[in-house]
Amino acid sequence: MSPAQAALRIDDFEDLEPALTIIVTDQNGAEHRLPAEPGWRAMEVIRDWGLNIKAECGGAAACATCHVHVDRMWADALPPPTDEEVDRLDDAFDVQETSRLSCQILLSPEMDGLRLRLAPGTER
Ligand code: FES
Repeated sequence: MSPAQAALRIDDFEDLEPALTIIVTDQNGAEHRLPAEPGWRAMEVIRDWGLNIKAECGGAAACATCHVHVDRMWADALPPPTDEEVDRLDDAFDVQETSRLSCQILLSPEMDGLRLRLAPGTER
């Protein structure tokens, strides 16, 4: 999706009340407030709003190119990673204590305001 297409989609949402909003900092340090719905994966929201995320395997926990750093305030509020996710993070760059695969973060209403930062190596 091009940035222009993403802008069109954001305009489409102008009058809607999203169930939740996640706040994503891109690889250039720009912050984006992204409307989302429960049941979506964080990676899907980031990708579908047109941010620069590779997410090469499409959410199968097989590539680590959807790696994010979760804000410390939020890290303990998320369900813990599976062993598969932890193993896959071994393939990522700049892994930190709060690293997660965004395709493995299933959004719920309690995650309104969740803050994530796209990690290096996730660019398309
Ligand atoms: S999209 Fe490949 S591991 Fe998340």
